[in-house]
Amino acid sequence: MRIAIGADHAGYPLKAHLVAYLEANGHAVDDVGTSSTEAVDYPPYCAAVGRRVADGRSDVGIVTGGSGQGEQLAANKVRGVRAALCNDLYTARMAREHNDANVLSLGARIVATGLAEEIVDLFLTTPFAGGRHERRVDQVMALEGFDLHEALYTTRAMRRVSADPIPTDVIERILDAAVRGPSGGNQQRFRFLTVTSASTKAQLAEWYAEGLAELNRTKYADVQAQIESADPADPEAALLTRMSSSSMWLAEHLGEVPLLLFVFGKEGGESSTFPALWNACLAARAEGVGTTITTLLRTHRAEVHDLLGVPDDGEWAMHAMVPMGYPLGRWGVAERRPAHESTYAERWGAAPDWRVDEPLWPPRHPTS
Ligand SMILES: Cc1cc2nc3c(=O)[nH]c(=O)nc-3n(C[C@H](O)[C@H](O)[C@H](O)COP(=O)(O)O)c2cc1C
Repeated sequence: MRIAIGADHAGYPLKAHLVAYLEANGHAVDDVGTSSTEAVDYPPYCAAVGRRVADGRSDVGIVTGGSGQGEQLAANKVRGVRAALCNDLYTARMAREHNDANVLSLGARIVATGLAEEIVDLFLTTPFAGGRHERRVDQVMALEGFDLHEALYTTRAMRRVSADPIPTDVIERILDAAVRGPSGGNQQRFRFLTVTSASTKAQLAEWYAEGLAELNRTKYADVQAQIESADPADPEAALLTRMSSSSMWLAEHLGEVPLLLFVFGKEGGESSTFPALWNACLAARAEGVGTTITTLLRTHRAEVHDLLGVPDDGEWAMHAMVPMGYPLGRWGVAERRPAHESTYAERWGAAPDWRVDEPLWPPRHPTS
């Protein structure tokens, strides 16, 4: 197993013992520190263990402290973590069987090394019982809110999505969040339209592919040329190539994307549709649903209006279409030009007196 382990100064001696024990038993151990008995604050170490488990880098986490209580609390603040304080064998077994705990917290001032080894073994080998406990664990996890900054930093074009349908209650939550968006004079000059019908999607996919081919021949001709002649080692070219190949993927698979969300607004009134649309994308991110804002179908706007039965009195115009589905890829922080390069201070062209060289989320800590 891949096991992430962390401790504060009080938990350090037990951690050092367990690292050697786990490695001797064939586990791959990812030790995030601390590495001495010098006093440190435990939360960052426990968060580092929790993040590794939550994002799948590790299968299981172990945190150790004096009692293990603060360590458990800190690890549990990471979304996706179910940390259990187990200073005896019964609790360790229950934590796995009933609670599907994925992080074990131990109190080094409570358990001796021999008992700690047995607790760890039991924790690592006891399977989750599932059944009624699964329903309860699901309810526990549903209590977790989604971190706003995680949504802000990781909501990005997620073009590769599976054909699995999006349940109605999820669609309701996404659209209910969408209509909370601001609009000029609170006129709410937006209308959404959801498309799931296979035949409608097939027609839209055909137009979308035509639109992309046309754009690649015209507006993006130089980008296409750049991609073709790019040095694969150049990171900027790699970014362009990735974007181009995921755009192609979307064009080829649009008909299989489970839900296409259209937004309509007044001609030229995008400033009142896009905040609501972006709310939908952020809400979808919180549901684990991938989205990509697309405007490509504007090349076939009249045909799209006709296909979707939009009245031809010119009152409403399609502004964008967002394919939505469960991601085939992984979420990650969007790569962008740094904020200080996109911001002027006081006057156009004047650099601000601050720099942000690395994304500020997730919060930085040497072990994260
Ligand atoms: C107004 C607007 C229109 C867009 N139109 C398309 C589109 O038609 N097709 C597409 O694949 N992506 C489209 N995108 C997505 C951008 O290409 C995407 O945000 C950009 O590549 C950054 O990708 P990332 O968020 O994954 O880092 C659009 C984005 C915006 C904001």
